[in-house]
Amino acid sequence: MSFYSLLSDLTFLVIPAMLLLLNRSKRSGGEPLPQLIQEGDYVLLFLDHRRTYLVKIEGGKSFHTHKGFIKFDDLIGKDYGSTVLSSLGVEFIALKPLLRDYIMKSVRRTQITYPKDVALIVMFSGIGPGSRVVEAGTGTGALTTALAHYVKPEGRVYSYEIREEFLKTAEKNLKRAGLIDFVELKNKDITAGIDESGVDGVILDLATPWLVAPHACTALKPSGTIVSFSPTIDQVVKTVEALMESGFVDVETFECLMRGMQVERGKTRPQTLMTGHTGYITLARKALKA
Ligand SMILES: C[S@@+](CC[C@H](N)C(=O)[O-])C[C@H]1O[C@@H](n2cnc3c(N)ncnc32)[C@H](O)[C@@H]1O
Repeated sequence: MSFYSLLSDLTFLVIPAMLLLLNRSKRSGGEPLPQLIQEGDYVLLFLDHRRTYLVKIEGGKSFHTHKGFIKFDDLIGKDYGSTVLSSLGVEFIALKPLLRDYIMKSVRRTQITYPKDVALIVMFSGIGPGSRVVEAGTGTGALTTALAHYVKPEGRVYSYEIREEFLKTAEKNLKRAGLIDFVELKNKDITAGIDESGVDGVILDLATPWLVAPHACTALKPSGTIVSFSPTIDQVVKTVEALMESGFVDVETFECLMRGMQVERGKTRPQTLMTGHTGYITLARKALKA
């Protein structure tokens, strides 16, 4: 075998292996860059805005819809964003799921925190990569999923929930989103106290947040943040009073209303229907008082 044919054989073997490794390393780094769809990945099959399906890609299997079935083998090795035809010739787009897709497609055991509120909660809490955050209640784990996404890879979410059966569902949702490694699920009543100390944030979505205010103050770092989500004003008033009594400052409450638009030249206007109410967001910061 000549030197040149050996070189050509090696190139033939080595370059695809390097490309495969590159693609794998992007995945393990959690980079949101285009990748090839692989067995075990989750894909959002998009038919139209109202009809999207979050599916796990398994070789040899297919996904059935009223528009025909889609063979997963037709997607393995393709770029995210590719078009795939169902057995009835209908076009679906294989999108890479976003955080909001994992949240909205959670297997639900409780009311969940919606993306519009999640966005504000994350912004107001000031958390980011490396933050240590206490959360309660876990519920379905939708908010937990978002918190884990933002604190990874070095940070951690300690999520308290009194109903063990809800934790099981939350665990499944977190595993599906690939975020379980950044969360410690705790079957505990947070009104009885918080185990962690020196945390960056305390995030609450439970019926009695005012009972948590003193514990949150103990668990937080000085200047740490608390953000509480409550559906009723009565809860907000009790929470604000408890926060002020517990040594928090900069206490504020907001409501976020999100209105979709129907966009079509000459007919563009707000959509007729919207989610009128989800809840109020109260935030505050821990002060060290003399
Ligand atoms: C509305 S759900 C939370 C939903 C969650 N934010 C989500 O996005 O999936 C409220 C949860 O708080 C839990 N809970 C209520 N009181 C609690 C307490 N004292 N300690 C821990 N969890 C509590 C409930 O069991 C329920 O699962």
